[in-house]
Amino acid sequence: MDFSAGIAAWYKANKRDLPWRNVRDPYLIWLSEIILQQTRVEQGLPYYLRFAEKYPTVHHLAKAKEAEVMKLWQGLGYYSRARNLHAAAKHIAFELNGKFPATFHEVLRLKGVGTYTAAAIASFAYGEAQAVVDGNVYRLLSRYFGIKTPIDSTKGKKQFLELASSLLDRKDPGTHNQAIMEFGARQCVPKNPSCGTCPLGNSCFARAKKKVNMLPVKEKKTKISERHFHYFLVRHRGYVWINHRSGKDIWKGLYDLPLIESAKAVRTEKIFSSKPFLGIMGNKKFTVKNISSEFRHVLSHQNIHATFVEIDASAELKDKNFLRIKENTLHRYAVPRLIEKYLESRKLKT
Ligand code: ADE
Repeated sequence: MDFSAGIAAWYKANKRDLPWRNVRDPYLIWLSEIILQQTRVEQGLPYYLRFAEKYPTVHHLAKAKEAEVMKLWQGLGYYSRARNLHAAAKHIAFELNGKFPATFHEVLRLKGVGTYTAAAIASFAYGEAQAVVDGNVYRLLSRYFGIKTPIDSTKGKKQFLELASSLLDRKDPGTHNQAIMEFGARQCVPKNPSCGTCPLGNSCFARAKKKVNMLPVKEKKTKISERHFHYFLVRHRGYVWINHRSGKDIWKGLYDLPLIESAKAVRTEKIFSSKPFLGIMGNKKFTVKNISSEFRHVLSHQNIHATFVEIDASAELKDKNFLRIKENTLHRYAVPRLIEKYLESRKLKT
């Protein structure tokens, strides 16, 4: 059996019944694909169901408040996806008269949509012959065909896209694309795949040459930075102060707490006599109520080491960048998972 026929047969027997596979509505397919970028199906599925229920059409999403969209996205990570999704929904609803872009090239112009996502939407919703190449497809093709070109190089991207296009079933590109991704995600898994039971095992280059764990090749090693945070939950008469994150850093659009970041690990006592702490607290009296142990939070390119300090202050914080809110309304704000984990650990429910 050739490669594409093998994939198709496997998919027929093994496919999961996922809600976005039973629809042709480009809006719902788009929604699912944005949610599934950099996210596993098991994690993304409940988010998809909540979004599709709350915003069943692009108009519902376009009319939503950004803060509400961010709140519903809370915990999924890569928050620019949510902001771009919302911005693009408004564009479609208000500038394109609610008409979803109808071709690969038009879909590609939407904010937050790259070639992979545009190909997925165009093939699933419109049956357009565009090959998808996501991480799963890179892995599968590099192993099966023995391609050592780095997948994160310009040359590699072109080569894999050409190969994927040549394999595409032009009669039913949507099903073919779903199948090849599903095969990569479930059979040709990154670590210790079951090559003994793989229907393509007999003709797989990597299996024959014992190179399964060496493919795919990446040019650049992901650089991981270590970051050290002290977060302050400052209380005064039922109020706490939160910070709306903006700028280029992680968690843009989410809320967090007054923060001091240091280049190295610093003891909390030292922080209390530091300039940035004076900047947050001014000269007012305060009592430290709790100092947490270290919370480690792993993101794709950074490891965060966070300590949370709860403080009772004798007066309000003056910094206009902070938002004063009643502590019992904290749960309404979209916060990073790290903050949520801390609040949960202290039974300060969000
Ligand atoms: N990952 C990204 N898109 C997907 C899809 N449509 N089905 C399953 N997993 C996916």
